[in-house]
Amino acid sequence: MKYFLIFTLLLFYGCEKNEEIKTIAPLHVKPKVKPLHVEIQEIENELSNIDSLEYLENYIIDIINNGSDAKLGFPSGSMEGGYAYKSDALNIARYVVTLSNKQSSDDKQGKKTEIFYSSNCGGCHGNDGKGLNGTFPDLSLQTMQGISEKKECLKTKLATLKSKN
Ligand code: HEC
Repeated sequence: MKYFLIFTLLLFYGCEKNEEIKTIAPLHVKPKVKPLHVEIQEIENELSNIDSLEYLENYIIDIINNGSDAKLGFPSGSMEGGYAYKSDALNIARYVVTLSNKQSSDDKQGKKTEIFYSSNCGGCHGNDGKGLNGTFPDLSLQTMQGISEKKECLKTKLATLKSKN
């Protein structure tokens, strides 16, 4: 009985090893790389959309839901996601859009989150969105810092890719 157990254990061990080997990609399979013209097209599409209202609202929604990992370089560091229910994020984003005197996709719905904004976001960004004298990002800028930086980054990337094309 004892030997039988040892034998089955060895068999098991052997199987797992084989499975591991099977999951390693064979050397002749190249990792998937996007073709250059597809990557260029994707960046061009994003750049052509980056100044739109839709892009701005989606950018804000993404940060409300997922946070922002200190990419903007403020001494206050990163912003955590999840201050709001995902279902409310669009209306909060609409309200934030109006802080820079722009018209959102639905100002009336956005306005309903004004009190939510001042109690959950205003503590850092200020009720006027101006970021408490540079301590936090100014949400009332005509182009938000994160979007300006993304734009510059995409332009540089595009130029590099085009020079390779
Ligand atoms: C505890 C402070 C704090 C709170 C509360 C807070 N934020 Fe932020 N927020 C930050 C910080 C810090 C950053 C910069 C993060 C980075 O550098 O990536 C930021 C970044 C942002 C940005 C990107 C700005 C840009 O210029 O690109 C948006 C949009 C934003 N916050 C919206 C909100 C909204 C809406 C709420 C409420 C639901 C909120 N924040 C609550 C601290 C806060």
